[in-house]
Amino acid sequence: MSAHGEPQPMMSSPVTGLSGIAEVPGDKSISHRSLILGALSVGETKITGLLEGQDVLDTAKAMQAFGAEVVQHGPGAWSVHGVGVGGFAEPDQVIDCGNSGTGVRLIMGCMATSPISVTFTGDASLNGRPRARVTDPLALFGTQTVGRSGGRLPMTIVGAAEPVPVRYVVPVPSAQVKSAVLFAGLNAPGKTVVIEKEATRDHTERMLAGFGAEITVEDTDEGRVITLTGQPELKPQEIAVPRDPSSAAFPVCAAIITPGSDVLVPGIGLNPTRAGLYTTLRDMGADLTYENERIEGGEPVADLRARFSPDMKGIEVPPERAASMIDEYPILSVVAANATGRTLMAGVKELRVKESDRIDAMATGLRANGVTVDEGDDWWAVEGLGPQGVPGGAECKSHLDHRIAMSFLIMGMAAQNPVSVDDGQPILTSFPIFTGLMGDLGAKLVQTNA
Ligand code: S3P
Repeated sequence: MSAHGEPQPMMSSPVTGLSGIAEVPGDKSISHRSLILGALSVGETKITGLLEGQDVLDTAKAMQAFGAEVVQHGPGAWSVHGVGVGGFAEPDQVIDCGNSGTGVRLIMGCMATSPISVTFTGDASLNGRPRARVTDPLALFGTQTVGRSGGRLPMTIVGAAEPVPVRYVVPVPSAQVKSAVLFAGLNAPGKTVVIEKEATRDHTERMLAGFGAEITVEDTDEGRVITLTGQPELKPQEIAVPRDPSSAAFPVCAAIITPGSDVLVPGIGLNPTRAGLYTTLRDMGADLTYENERIEGGEPVADLRARFSPDMKGIEVPPERAASMIDEYPILSVVAANATGRTLMAGVKELRVKESDRIDAMATGLRANGVTVDEGDDWWAVEGLGPQGVPGGAECKSHLDHRIAMSFLIMGMAAQNPVSVDDGQPILTSFPIFTGLMGDLGAKLVQTNA
């Protein structure tokens, strides 16, 4: 199957006793950045543990279109022979980023300060998502943009021939926007300054420093002030991509809500800008322990052990934690439906502009399966049913969104009746081994049109 192919309906039936070791794939955010920074370096970057999901493969193809040599040597083992900062060639073809908001925004950033014109497109989900949050700051460098009505893709960006550095306060908590501005700043002379009021995932800052850029980060009253000196020569690196905490969330939460379960998910990055879900699960009373805590490649890493947790309580998730778990609210809402009492998730407006409107997509599917959900513009609340679990029995729409599809399939494992999704294809964008891995733990997942 390809992530760009026909819809693939799937069904997940109730099970007990999920058990075993779940080796989830490489981190999606770090995988995109490894390929991009490899392409912007002079010489050969070697990567192991790369996520080979469709989103990242689309970024690999894009880097080739800009002139980098990208080669797969074995499962997860890749090399990128880069063209250097300012060395991107103008692609002959349209750059198709598929489903990936991260891919398109990061790539727009790194071509924006080169004198080339690039046309971007994607799937129906990507082409409907807001673009101004990236094209507005890129215009400050001197880029020009022509898109469809409402600033939607397909869109052509004409890179700035004589870019100027910028000082930009990111108006929404978004690591993608921050990263796009920093990547654009790489080829502008002088210092580009990006200020974020709320800390978002900091992989770009860490990796730029690792590739030899001059970059500083200061916590001030204004927020996190990131200062990058333009036109460095980036030095190729050897990168071991850690396993993805956002993918680990699915087997961890499956074990927590499914009776009799005990699952070990090894080698998960617990960078504080990514680990909010795990703190939240522990706040709810989940039986989740960190084993073998260690530092790997400068990042805190642990093996996560998750066991069935029948005594979980609903909580108010602190809004200031949102950025560190923004991709995990869909699966958290499934856990919340299995806890006792109400879970309130506030300060989460960003969920409305992800691969789908994730509040709407989850609320609709939860309600269809017997769960009460309230929602407002930037909050939602789930009434937990406790250990009796969710009635289930209904089909949910995945809206071309991998995390929605996986969340509902996990819900089916602990529900009273099977839960279906209309399309499991999008799962291939971030977690291509999801079905096999969950099956090995004891889940019953089937394609219903096979
Ligand atoms: C990502 C940032 C987040 C996240 C996405 C990956 C990244 O998006 O939702 O899955 O790699 O920078 P925003 O930056 O738009 O919040």
